[in-house]
Amino acid sequence: MAEKLKAGIIGCGGISNSHMAGYKALPDRVSVEAVCDIDEEKVKAYAAKYNVPRWYTDAREMMAKESLDAVSVTTWNSQHCPMTVVALEGGANVICEKPMAMNQYEAQTMLETAERCGKLLQIGFVRRFGKDAEIVKRFIDAGDMGDIYYAKATYLRRNGCPGKWFGDKAYSGGGPLIDLGVHVMDLVRYLGGCPMPVSAYGVTYNNLGKNRADGGQTWVSSSKGTYAYNVEDMASAMIRFDNGMTMTMEASFNLNIKQDTGRVELFGTRAGALVEPDIEFYTDRNGLFVDLKPSVGGGSAFAGMFEREMTHFVDCVQNGTPCRAPAKDGVVLMKMIDAIYESAACGHEVIIK
Ligand SMILES: NC(=O)c1ccc[n+]([C@@H]2O[C@H](COP(=O)([O-])OP(=O)(O)OC[C@H]3O[C@@H](n4cnc5c(N)ncnc54)[C@H](O)[C@@H]3O)[C@@H](O)[C@H]2O)c1
Repeated sequence: MAEKLKAGIIGCGGISNSHMAGYKALPDRVSVEAVCDIDEEKVKAYAAKYNVPRWYTDAREMMAKESLDAVSVTTWNSQHCPMTVVALEGGANVICEKPMAMNQYEAQTMLETAERCGKLLQIGFVRRFGKDAEIVKRFIDAGDMGDIYYAKATYLRRNGCPGKWFGDKAYSGGGPLIDLGVHVMDLVRYLGGCPMPVSAYGVTYNNLGKNRADGGQTWVSSSKGTYAYNVEDMASAMIRFDNGMTMTMEASFNLNIKQDTGRVELFGTRAGALVEPDIEFYTDRNGLFVDLKPSVGGGSAFAGMFEREMTHFVDCVQNGTPCRAPAKDGVVLMKMIDAIYESAACGHEVIIK
């Protein structure tokens, strides 16, 4: 049996519990040696809860004192770049939560640091590990959809800002575009064969958020303190790719819509696919329109997604498995997000290089 992977976590908030569960699900392969959060009370309680031997309030100190093989960076967004660099330079392979960073320049720094240190940097594109993504990809890879030329990605919440730092641009880098849009935009790009974006046209609005920043949210930050609320509460964009594919995207924390909506659709020359909320293919056969529904539905698409993502990260580090969510794709997503924000600010299409 190979030696156990020594793992650590930087940022012990809500999502870190999913990373911890992923490590704990592999007791023969991984041992979580240390955890870190700038909130001392929180990290102490967290270490005790999960039986982690050592805790820190400074990631630099943790990396200097421990010899960690794998680190999860699950801080707020503005700390993704600095903490990933600290962990990589401290000798660890890293899985960093989405969005990769505040912007493409930070993302590029993270990618270059990983390359310089010869370490893996996986990005938390967890939707790539959903059952729905895996099923639809099987159909795409078999050629059943033909060429995918159009896609719609929707992630709309009526009242869903997670509060705290999520609403403060200095910590988050933006609102629903960078927080929610990133998930569905990456899913579409991944299923579409990872084409390169060439241009974006985007709009953002901030009409409702200030009055709705609290209450009724589906995901709530566990951080303490008070923060500004200055992010957009809805974003919409159209992105063109170098293979001719176009994607429209809509994401909101706040919108006067009846109910929260998550919907991803792909349209190909041989078939269309509804990926979310449930998988269905639309095509024609023998002169008839046919709707195909796999017997294993997407109803359970989200179940086990984080466990599969974390197991994959451990496989990549321990066995050299090629990474399904590499840092280079994180950089591309940050370029798309930067271009959408820039387009919203300047009022016209922005070229992506
Ligand atoms: N993949 C997903 O579906 C998903 C879901 C939720 C959140 N996220 C992402 O996970 C990240 C964290 O979100 P959350 O909801 O857990 O936030 P949270 O507010 O619950 O927790 C963030 C934690 O990071 C800590 N922190 C900040 N800077 C730090 C530093 N330099 N060193 C150590 N600790 C530090 C804070 O004290 C806090 O405990 C965000 O980037 C978010 O976008 C991803």
